[in-house]
Amino acid sequence: MTIIVTGGAGFIGSNFVNGWVVASDEPVVNVDKLTYAGNLENLSETDSSKHIFVRGDINDIELIEKLFIQHKPRAIINFAAESHVDRSIKEPDAFINTNIVGTFRLLTASLKYFDGLKDHDKEQFRFLHVSTDEVYGSLLPEDPAFTEDNQYEPNSPYSASKASADHLVRAYCQTYGLPTLTTNCSNNYGPYQFPEKLIPLVVLNAISEKNLPIYGDGKQVRDWLFVADHCEAIKVVLEKGRLGETYNIGGESEMTNLDVVSKICEILDRARPRKNGLSYSDLITYVKDRPGHDRRYAIDIRKIKKELNWAPTRDFDSGLESTISWYLNNMGWVDRVRSGEYLQWIDKQYG
Ligand code: NAD
Ligand code: TYD
Repeated sequence: MTIIVTGGAGFIGSNFVNGWVVASDEPVVNVDKLTYAGNLENLSETDSSKHIFVRGDINDIELIEKLFIQHKPRAIINFAAESHVDRSIKEPDAFINTNIVGTFRLLTASLKYFDGLKDHDKEQFRFLHVSTDEVYGSLLPEDPAFTEDNQYEPNSPYSASKASADHLVRAYCQTYGLPTLTTNCSNNYGPYQFPEKLIPLVVLNAISEKNLPIYGDGKQVRDWLFVADHCEAIKVVLEKGRLGETYNIGGESEMTNLDVVSKICEILDRARPRKNGLSYSDLITYVKDRPGHDRRYAIDIRKIKKELNWAPTRDFDSGLESTISWYLNNMGWVDRVRSGEYLQWIDKQYG
């Protein structure tokens, strides 16, 4: 059999593909548009006999239909998305086009393929949609963590676009019987994350002696999950998840942004002490808050734990330590990623 993955040259997708190819003999077809966030270098060590890369847009329905006919996959996993909240605030169009319309087109092509399958292959087929906890909105400090039954209350163009896609996925299952699964995951961190996101941005700014920008008071809370744990959860949902269900995935690791940044500074103080003898925490700089900034996310993972026997394996301190050392040991990757487009973004966002 074969699986199709979309967005497999991005952060989570490439971690997934790399892990899949090592663990399985089943080939993976990887469709990625290669936007600024997609990077073939993330896949350079992937066994090419089991990995077929196709540069393409999930909006290109003819291409997706062709790939279905050609590879006859037993599943499609949709990672492809515009994923950065700050970009969605400045330029929302691409979020609507990829996250909503793109998912719709993928569903349309998948349904056509699914309808043409024989009974046995129909039973096997899955459409797994990778989504975010941000669709649920923002929690107060005393609120219980998000369960799968929480109302959707997205606050940014990014989370609204992901929420719309989740609704379409649900509708394709309810209306047409497409066998879908949806996962809603908290903030990921780990190797290959594009350095526009908090953790790699702070690590790389610090070692370049640049300010570490904290939005607002820095007391916003996120739940952090090591990317390999997320990839494992997706595999478990693919194999054992109940059709039409959604599963929350999280690291049971809630932390304020300020605490995350302080931990990064402590690790770097040990691993790469500054020449001036000061702590990296002296570079922390409070900047203007993000509009509509969600105060707190927290994920209740009892459902996936109980039903599918999945739990995160990596604690935040050791995951952060290994992530930081990955960045320090892969400065070639960093330098190539921080090219023209990246510099333009940093200039637009931070001045
Ligand atoms: P990313 O931005 O690093 O990668 C996205 C990938 O999708 C890139 O390779 C890009 O080239 C590709 N892509 C974008 N538009 C495309 C299109 N129209 N057609 C084909 N490919 C396209 O994102 P990520 O952090 O790896 O996130 C992957 C998925 O996981 C997204 O759906 C995101 O919403 C979700 N998610 C991310 C996090 C997180 O913390 N990063 C948490 C929960 C859920
Ligand atoms: P981010 O990595 O962009 O993920 P998300 O917005 O999807 O949670 O941001 C994580 C948190 O860090 C979020 O509360 C915004 C905050 N943040 C900063 O304080 N400074 C920054 O420069 C960035 C990029 C994020």
